[in-house]
Amino acid sequence: MSSISCYAMVVSGLESIAAREIELLLGAKITRKTDGLVTFKIDGPDPDLFDLKTTEDVFLFAWGTDSLTYRAKDLEDIRKWTAKEGDWTRLISQHHAFKPKTKGKPTYRFITQMDGEHGYHRKDAQKEFAKGLAKFIPPNWRMVEDNASVEFWLTIEEKTAVAGIRLTDKTMRHRTYKVAHRPASLRPSVAAAMVRIAELKPQHKVIDPMCGAGTILGEYQIFAEGWRMPREAAWGGDIEQAAVLDASANTRRLGKIYLHRWDARWLPLDSCSIDRIICNPPFGKQISPDVDINKLYRGLMIQFNRILSPGGKAVLLVSDYAALKGACENVEWELEKKFRTEILGQNAVISLWHKPAPEGTLSAPEGVLPVLNDSQGTE
Ligand SMILES: C[S@@+](CC[C@H](N)C(=O)[O-])C[C@H]1O[C@@H](n2cnc3c(N)ncnc32)[C@H](O)[C@@H]1O
Repeated sequence: MSSISCYAMVVSGLESIAAREIELLLGAKITRKTDGLVTFKIDGPDPDLFDLKTTEDVFLFAWGTDSLTYRAKDLEDIRKWTAKEGDWTRLISQHHAFKPKTKGKPTYRFITQMDGEHGYHRKDAQKEFAKGLAKFIPPNWRMVEDNASVEFWLTIEEKTAVAGIRLTDKTMRHRTYKVAHRPASLRPSVAAAMVRIAELKPQHKVIDPMCGAGTILGEYQIFAEGWRMPREAAWGGDIEQAAVLDASANTRRLGKIYLHRWDARWLPLDSCSIDRIICNPPFGKQISPDVDINKLYRGLMIQFNRILSPGGKAVLLVSDYAALKGACENVEWELEKKFRTEILGQNAVISLWHKPAPEGTLSAPEGVLPVLNDSQGTE
């Protein structure tokens, strides 16, 4: 089979991290990265595609454009491009190569997503898309509302449109390990991206001191499984006992993690005992209005700096980046990378910080285990 063109939907701002994972896992050639979209080519129907963690959905690519006009004229173009530019017969056979046909009559559906102020309705765009596709759909196929074996997708985002056949389903976005849910819980693909920014090694001691439902810890466990070698158990905790219990329920089947209820401003851990902090502290809106976010982040960074070994790194996701920057600079951390994204409809920034090692020190002392005091915890 000749090369297969695909596109992945990713959380906006995290395209380069997803592209790197696609390259490494699938040996893919990345052809384009634009807002929320990564296009790539692979040599054949690689089943590892379903194991991508930083993507939300993956599709076979039919056609794409950056030149929608917002005017009704786009509708005609959508029909024309779908009828002429998409090699749908080939795409359908590629789809079967990834996902063998089910018994009985194949079923199909059309899905159109549209963002932006266009001079036409989403339904009209879908109608033209369906017209363009009509000659490619075998007559014995049955159109259904749900659970179709083949989904034809058209996604319109402002001036950009992309069309194709969906390969993945909701299990790519929703992890089966997540049985307990909390309101401010992260999308697993965002937590997976944070883990990949952290430049992790098996000997690293890793912590999420404000773990909520434990999504970052869960994604760390899945990532670290790939090393296939012994590693340090990760640490996690939260000020709320209910969160600790949820994190425990979510990560139970993923291997050993030390989980405790604690206040992250007073961690019962040795100084310089942790190599990587990966954490999503509460956003301003998530805490009561009388909490000063600058003060909270300053207190947290003083504590994070104490437990982090010289040369250690922290990946932090916040909405109020100015407050975080002030707090990190207060402890003399250096910024290495920054990704602007959007979390729960709010602008947010994921940043990678580095605690400089004093001159003459190369890395953290190996073999120093964090020591827990008498805080309650589950393992
Ligand atoms: C944005 S949520 C983390 C969400 C988590 N990443 C997830 O995916 O579920 C922030 C968490 O910080 C916790 N938290 C707030 N203040 C804290 C403190 N002083 N010490 C420890 N945890 C705290 C909250 O209870 C909440 O669970």
